[in-house]
This record gives sequence, C-alpha cells and structure tokens, in this order.
Amino acid sequence: MTKLIAGNWKMNGSLAANEGLLSALASGLPKSLSCDVAVCIPAPYFAQFQALFATMPALALVALGSQDVSSQSAGAFTGEVSATMLRDFACRYAIVGHSERRQYHGETDFLVAAKAQQALAVGITPIVCVGETLAEREAGQTTEVVKRQLAAVIHANGHCISEIVLAYEPVWAIGTGKTASPEEAQAVHAVLRAQLAAATEHASRVKIIYGGSMNAANASTLLAQPDIDGGLIGGASLKAGDFLSIISAAS
Ligand code: 13P
Repeated sequence: MTKLIAGNWKMNGSLAANEGLLSALASGLPKSLSCDVAVCIPAPYFAQFQALFATMPALALVALGSQDVSSQSAGAFTGEVSATMLRDFACRYAIVGHSERRQYHGETDFLVAAKAQQALAVGITPIVCVGETLAEREAGQTTEVVKRQLAAVIHANGHCISEIVLAYEPVWAIGTGKTASPEEAQAVHAVLRAQLAAATEHASRVKIIYGGSMNAANASTLLAQPDIDGGLIGGASLKAGDFLSIISAAS
C-alpha cells in the first residue's frame, strides 16, 4: 500500500515561517513520489498555502490538511470551522480526535466520530487519532482504549469506515522523544487492523499510520512494520530536512 506521511504543524507557524518551510519542502522534494504527503496546517494559513501552491509547482505533490473540523455542518457555532469550508480550500485531509483535543478540549469518542462523519460527507479523508495514555498503558489497558475509540467511529460511519485514515498515536510518545518500539506499535496496529476487518471487507486498504516522536532516525524501522502504513509527524514536520528524510524513508 502507498504510505502516507502527514505533517501536523499543530499551533506553529507564521506567514514568514510557513513560506520558508514550504519553499524548502518544494525545493527538496523529488520530481515524483511513491508515497502520499500532506501537511495539516493551522486554518488561518489555508489561503497562503493555496497562493504558494500556485507559484511552487513542486507543492502539487503535497496535499493540504486541517487539524480539526466541526461536528456540525453550519450555523451558530462560534469559532468552529465546517467541513464544507475546508473543502473550499481543497483540503484533502482533516485530523480528528487528536489526543491534544481530547485532553485540552474535552473531546469525547462520540464527538470525534461525528467529526469524522462530517469530513466523510464532503469527501475529506478524516485522519482519526486513537491512543492510550501512559497510565492506561501501564494498567494494561492499551487494547481496550484504542478499540473503544475506534469502535465509536465505526459505529457512526458504517461501511464508510474504509475511507478513513487511522492514526495510532500513543499519548506518552507525543512530543516526548519516546517512541513506541516498532514491535509495540505494530502490535497495536494489528489489533486495529483486525477490528477494521470485522467492520469492512476493505480493511486491508485502510492506512493505519503511526504518530509519536517519529523522526528522521527512527522512521524507516517503524515504516518497515507490516501494518504501519505511514506517519503523522509533529515536531519533525517543522524542519524541512527532517520531514524530507521521513518522506524518503517512506518512498
Ligand atoms: P511529535 O511528532 O511531535 O511527537 O507529535 C506527534 C503528533 O502528535 C502528530 O499528530
């Protein structure tokens, strides 16, 4: 399966910094790629991305993604951004259920499932994040937690579940420099693949990507695992050289 390398810039960037990063990416990318690449950037910069996209032909290889989407389609929801608005900017992906949103914004499994539904309804691929905290891992609850998080999304989305990207992001590995070992990550990815297989006959084509301190040094061993179909990259996606190395490890 074609791997997906998606950068999650989180709440980082500025007009000047984005232009520098995107032009460094554009000049470092090969002419053609054998993996899919996306950058999930802060929504206020979508128009800037579109303008740069028009002037930097190499960026045609990079898809635009958002870091969230509203669970509602339109109306009196102050501060929210709808899936239709994302589509206006040719957004290809929308991250939903990132652990930082579950943790700091109280997002529930139910809400995350509704967000995935909104994205799918307009043809945007939701990148659904699941993952356990350190306390949950130490209590032996990893499988139970990720299965519960995925079950809500399967329940709400039925056969469309084959259209999602699933991201396993152990919370304890995010921004900590502690990566899940390739074996630890593969074990969880296999559990998720089996759960998808019970819900859809197309489980083998659902990309299950790994996130959590993936970097230029550890990407290739993680990506060599049979059920690791790409990466969701935080910190290392803000450095063009590191992000390009991860892309080349996936190619
Ligand atoms: P880091 O790569 O900075 O650990 O972040 C991972 C992540 O949260 C991507 O969504």
